[in-house]
Amino acid sequence: MGRYLTRALGRMGFGALILLGSQASAQALADAQDIAGKRLFLRCASCHALNANAPGRIGPALQGVVGRKAGSLAGAKYSAAMLATDFVWTDAMLDKWLTKPNSVVPGTAMAFAGIPNPQDRQALIAYLKKAGR
Ligand code: HEC
Repeated sequence: MGRYLTRALGRMGFGALILLGSQASAQALADAQDIAGKRLFLRCASCHALNANAPGRIGPALQGVVGRKAGSLAGAKYSAAMLATDFVWTDAMLDKWLTKPNSVVPGTAMAFAGIPNPQDRQALIAYLKKAGR
């Protein structure tokens, strides 16, 4: 069931996993979270590359962003608001950021409405950590 299930869940979104959690194997759950994260990253990909060596986009490359000081990627263009911050990106900070960027850095140049679903944010952060390391 693994392949079919993870494909189907990838389409439905990670939230659907909660309902199926007791029947699916841990591996299928991890795969499905991965697929959901990858799909969610499409919302970021117009402005962000994952690979730090990719040509610059409007936003900074997100490879290795967890554990990185905010506004610190060499060569990236940041707003004055972002440059004035002093914190490191953690899962918790990213969760807030992806809910509403302006609530973390008022005046940020990242024009993004936010991802309201907590499971979606979790899947995306897991994806960033795995694919972007
Ligand atoms: C419309 C373009 C756009 C979209 C879409 C977008 N971003 Fe951004 N992002 C930016 C810009 C521009 C910045 C720099 C913000 C600043 O300097 O204030 C940024 C900054 C960031 C930072 C801070 C990086 C650092 O080096 O401190 C993170 C993390 C981030 N974005 C994650 C995401 C994720 C994850 C998504 C997808 C859900 C996303 N962004 C969608 C444009 C975008």
